[in-house]
Amino acid sequence: MKIGVLVSGGGSNLQAIMDAVAVGALDVEIACVGSDNPDAKGLERAEKAGIPTFVTDYSAFFARWKEGAALPEDFSLETVASRQSLMKGSDPDILKAFLEKRALAEAALLAALAPYKIDLLVLAGFMRVLTPYFIDALNTDSNRPRIMNIHPALLPAFPGTDGYGDTFRYGCKVGGCTVHFVDYGEDSGPIIGQSCFPIESSDDLDAVKKKGLAEEWRLFPDCIGLYAEDRLNVVERQGTRVVEILPPAAR
Ligand code: GRF
Repeated sequence: MKIGVLVSGGGSNLQAIMDAVAVGALDVEIACVGSDNPDAKGLERAEKAGIPTFVTDYSAFFARWKEGAALPEDFSLETVASRQSLMKGSDPDILKAFLEKRALAEAALLAALAPYKIDLLVLAGFMRVLTPYFIDALNTDSNRPRIMNIHPALLPAFPGTDGYGDTFRYGCKVGGCTVHFVDYGEDSGPIIGQSCFPIESSDDLDAVKKKGLAEEWRLFPDCIGLYAEDRLNVVERQGTRVVEILPPAAR
């Protein structure tokens, strides 16, 4: 199975995935690593390991949108706006700008990924939301989602960009991380795996992040492995799409 990985920053999760592949604990090929951030350290990690990299610089696409760049031919504002649930109830002009800017960047991201013919896209600290324009291009089979994300909190608690910070400030006694499939909402897709850790009163935010990342590095390769073994089944349960984990070699 071929995977593509997107990173925005340090790439310690990417490193954990590369390490799992290197020692034979995870049977996938990392076909490419991409980033929205040209300075992402994760890109360096990939290059060092001989993995092809690319950059889709979102800021540059947002600037082009301001200059009136043509939108992708297959982009329909009406369709994407009706499917998205990232900006519920927002002003139509704001939503239009939000979706059009991202469509420009996402079309470039899709084009950059296309040559690698990946089976699964792994978001490992990719700090951009993806709109239905991008998601639908990859998820052509609704029973087999193809985008996986790791989130630094026990979802559905604390979605958003600062999961460990929100967990810590709330005074939680347990923190955790979640791997899930990406759907049209923010950190709202079917949960594949979760891992948790105790938060002691002596822990500061750095300690919480450290404990959390250590869990992430184990959980993410495990979840990718389940996908590679074709053991993740998305089913509808009481109106919610949930992931059933099948026993080994059940298919
Ligand atoms: C992780 O905490 C991940 O859960 C979140 O962003 C962070 C990325 O860290 N989405 P790294 O770039 O993998 O070190």
